[in-house]
Amino acid sequence: MPMNGNGLVWLNGSFMSFEEARISIEDRGFQFADGVYEVVRVYDGKPFTFQEHLKRLRQSASLIELDFKIEDDRLKEIGQELVSRSDLKDAELYIQITRGVAPRSHAFPREIYPTILLSIRPVRPLPEGALEKGVSAITLPDERWARCNIKSISLLPNVLAKEKARRAGAYEAIFIRNGIVTEGASSNIFLLLEGVLRTPPADWRILRGITRDLVLNLAGKEGLPSKEEEFGVEKLYQAEEVFITSTAIEILPVVEIDKRKIGAGKPGTVQHLLYQKFKQLVKENPAPAL
Ligand code: PDD
Repeated sequence: MPMNGNGLVWLNGSFMSFEEARISIEDRGFQFADGVYEVVRVYDGKPFTFQEHLKRLRQSASLIELDFKIEDDRLKEIGQELVSRSDLKDAELYIQITRGVAPRSHAFPREIYPTILLSIRPVRPLPEGALEKGVSAITLPDERWARCNIKSISLLPNVLAKEKARRAGAYEAIFIRNGIVTEGASSNIFLLLEGVLRTPPADWRILRGITRDLVLNLAGKEGLPSKEEEFGVEKLYQAEEVFITSTAIEILPVVEIDKRKIGAGKPGTVQHLLYQKFKQLVKENPAPAL
């Protein structure tokens, strides 16, 4: 089994390379996108906020009535083993659970065993200068379903939006539903307006990001006023600062939206402060108790 710096897979009980990993064409993940996932960041060989991601994985699975028997401790053990076997220090740990393999038929099959996949890959790099200069975004109608709180592997609207952003030369697509800003195609969104940090409430319209919750927490600790509230696209244009958050991009300043300059057109001090505090938390991340 090749074990190089490019990643490693654990699939239904065995470790293997990406090249060796095979899934049936009748897997319901492939047929129906009938599954859920998580992305966990590994810093310096240690998974960050693993427990929070596992909790959300269970919530997502439960919301689609997908029952999987594997314990959190076992998933953590596998995650840690992927880290040590792959020798990747800064990585993305991916977890995907689908309803399993059965002849194609929409309703749940009676006898079925979930497909459980964990994999590790090096971190995808941010575009050159993204943190220092900020990135640009475009707004697009939110064409997703009414259960965006579930971290479902069904990501077609997100994929299409991201591609539109890329073709427009932008880094992220920001979704607007009935005039209300929801989130990015793969991130949560924050703005600073009149000195108050604002982010959309965690309801069915967004994925409640682990990074989002950490940022709200850090803001509280720093004495920065924050609000979870609905806002329209005009508030984005008026904001002093805008930033997006996710496991993959951490806290990234957005300095241009729909070709309009946001604030001073460069990363702001609140984003900078929260980013420093976030990095401090990462540094304090304890080694896993295994
Ligand atoms: N995406 N909203 C959406 C739609 C997302 O896909 C993500 C993360 C987030 C941020 O969540 P968190 O802070 O827990 O990573 C919000 C992951 C990274 C992905 O699909 O690759």
